[in-house]
Amino acid sequence: MPRVAVIGAGTMGHGIAELFALAGYEVNLVDISQDILNKALRNIEDSLKKVKERGRLKEDVATVLSRIRPVVGDVCSAVVGVELMVEAVVEDIEVKKRVFAEADRCAPPEAILATNTSSLPITEIAEAVKPERRTKVVGMHFFNPPVLMPLVEVIKGQYTSDETVKRVVDYVKKLGKEPVVVNRDVPGFIVNRILARVNEAACWLVARGLSTPEVIDAVAIYKVGLPMGVFLLMDFVGLDVVCFVAEAMKKRGFKSHPCPLILEKCQQKKYGVKSGEGFYKYPAPGKFQWP
Ligand code: 3HC
Repeated sequence: MPRVAVIGAGTMGHGIAELFALAGYEVNLVDISQDILNKALRNIEDSLKKVKERGRLKEDVATVLSRIRPVVGDVCSAVVGVELMVEAVVEDIEVKKRVFAEADRCAPPEAILATNTSSLPITEIAEAVKPERRTKVVGMHFFNPPVLMPLVEVIKGQYTSDETVKRVVDYVKKLGKEPVVVNRDVPGFIVNRILARVNEAACWLVARGLSTPEVIDAVAIYKVGLPMGVFLLMDFVGLDVVCFVAEAMKKRGFKSHPCPLILEKCQQKKYGVKSGEGFYKYPAPGKFQWP
């Protein structure tokens, strides 16, 4: 089976690695320390057990897990011989550019280099690689948790070729997901543009004393029929990510009216599920439980 590399084993990276392994790919999963990789493998195993319990996995959990090879730190060795790299490191353009430059040096010339960025420009990331590779740099934006969320945005940067978009659409389908092609590299693509407005609107209702997170979330779940309320979803995604995405979109010209409540949470490092407190409290930080 073909091999892919996933760079970054955090919330999104480990879920993306799991998805590729579930679809039968061999996966090189890279992060900066063995501890992070061990944690990622534990999370993947827990998730695979749930998939198995739901009757959606014919193979053993151990067989799927054995297709994921953890690699400490070395992007270059992890991309040798791969047909696709998906980068899911921290949302910092300089860090992403370093990953792309290194991957460009070592990956086969025909390999596609994709980024799971939520909000950074695909075109600027592509400029970190040699001109002849830029047609193969593309956005491949998964949603949290990747194993359950059906959608993947495929984003065309200024240099991305139609052939690359087509190949990535095929990968997404092989993963059993639904691709949506975003033809312009606009800030926040499609989903985060919508979510940014929803988050802001809900947050201003609270900031102006007109409602509470609990009431808004109850309305979202029990009346609108969303799987999670607006504030719970922000806690689930991580308020650090919410703030970062909002800021990155604003820098790129997206008109917004940032809500102080979200910014305060970020300043207080109350990032939601991952830190144990955001708009709600989570007794076991890192583990999602309905509040
Ligand atoms: N792996 C495998 N299975 C899992 C799982 C995981 N990580 N997490 C939950 N499950 C399974 C559970 O075992 C359960 O199975 P069952 O129905 O057989 O019992 C089922 O999924 C439902 O799980 P729960 O009962 O624990 O909880 P929910 O019913 O609330 O579902 C959810 C959890 C799927 C996360 C749902 O709440 C949801 O869809 N929330 C919205 C998530 C969302 O919108 N994500 C996008 C965020 S935006 C983003 O990521 C973009 C970025 O750029 C910011």
